[in-house]
Amino acid sequence: MQIDIPLSRRGLFIGTAQAFAAIALAGPGAAAEVLPKMTVTRDPNCGCCGNWVKHIKAAGFPIDVVEIDDVMPFKAKLGVPEALMSCHTAEIGGYVIEGHVPAEAVKRLLVERPKAIGIAFPGMPIGSPGMEVPGQAPQSYEIAIFSAGKQHVFARYRGLQQV
Ligand code: CU
Ligand code: CU
Repeated sequence: MQIDIPLSRRGLFIGTAQAFAAIALAGPGAAAEVLPKMTVTRDPNCGCCGNWVKHIKAAGFPIDVVEIDDVMPFKAKLGVPEALMSCHTAEIGGYVIEGHVPAEAVKRLLVERPKAIGIAFPGMPIGSPGMEVPGQAPQSYEIAIFSAGKQHVFARYRGLQQV
């Protein structure tokens, strides 16, 4: 018996092998203990960080939250470039995650394990996880992957959707 997979689907299978690995990491049966623990450092007076933490928890990550009054020196110490700074800063699996990065992008980072300090995008675009505003269309944003002195595009999203 021949199983006929349309060509477009075949391309998809080859092209997204890593995405499948990411799904395996996140899929059913991948309980919280499979995902590494994330530590989020945030300013207690900033509400959107709490909403992002909810998004990350919902994706199955075990999480510790540390509240400090001045987050800027902490970000700098971890090597987050000033141009990429957002509100909260997370550490997971040897990487730094800055800002409202979708959980899906964090999982992809942990599967691919590129040599880098971390991923980030500056500011707080509407519709990024934790920044949803009812009735407002999500904005596009570009997640950068950065090392000391260099960065390039890791992914592009609009809201929770990779584009
Ligand atoms: Cu924020
Ligand atoms: Cu915040």
